[in-house]
Amino acid sequence: MAVVDTDYLKDIDKARRDLRALISSRNCAPIMLRLAWHDAGTYDAKTKTGGPNGSIRNEEECSHGSNNGLKKAIDWCEEVKSKHPKITYADLYQLAGVVAVEVTGGPTIDFVPGRKDSKISPKEGRLPDAKQGAPHLRNIFYRMGLTDKDIVALSGGHTLGRAHPERSGFDGPWTNEPLKFDNSYFVELLSGESEGLLKLPTDKALVEDPAFRPFVDLYAKDEDAFFRDYAASHKKLSELGFTPT
Ligand code: HEM
Repeated sequence: MAVVDTDYLKDIDKARRDLRALISSRNCAPIMLRLAWHDAGTYDAKTKTGGPNGSIRNEEECSHGSNNGLKKAIDWCEEVKSKHPKITYADLYQLAGVVAVEVTGGPTIDFVPGRKDSKISPKEGRLPDAKQGAPHLRNIFYRMGLTDKDIVALSGGHTLGRAHPERSGFDGPWTNEPLKFDNSYFVELLSGESEGLLKLPTDKALVEDPAFRPFVDLYAKDEDAFFRDYAASHKKLSELGFTPT
């Protein structure tokens, strides 16, 4: 456990400022959010393995196909880590995710420090496969201990960024303003195919599945509801397997 004393909290504040500056100057909010999600999203509630523990920095895990492109984000975080070496990688990556959402206009997400780093990486295959549908999404997110509402709210993270053919084989952004965190991902999902915008099979599953759909409808028409639920689900994701002391 990282010892969260006054000095640690001061370092977290300084790292938050450094991350704000770094993310704004390099326009890298999307990939920082993706890094936080991919470190946390390996959690398995049954065995209490994986999760937001910094293990994505291990070469073995970083080279999993689903993590293509994330090395850049890990290296950028290392610049902040070298200035504040006491902060764990696990905390740093989750803080980067929280800051990425904030600086692009999204909700404020409560951040509690104290995560422990792990050198043990889970086997490949714990993150979702974009080519699949609703049952697969449920298998993956229920394994983490998350709900249908979490699945839809968190998928709203695709309001930021884009897919890159050389990383995932998919191409293009989900919205017309991929550096702005808003509810346009859900508005676009309901408006059908749009020239130049991406919808993964897993994105489409949210519209087609009768239990997911009401959340899509709500978030498309009520951005405050999306921000409220997103902030709660993101906090859950960032604290999987972690009990703050
Ligand atoms: C990008 C799949 C959930 C945040 C991507 C890409 C894929 C993908 C294929 C494109 C990667 C690339 O080519 O660069 C999925 C699937 C999910 C999911 C199947 C299951 C629901 C999430 C969640 C978040 C998230 C929960 C965050 C809360 C992002 C972001 C990007 C991204 C920000 C853009 C990265 C960039 O611009 O470099 N995702 N994702 N995704 N994903 Fe997801």
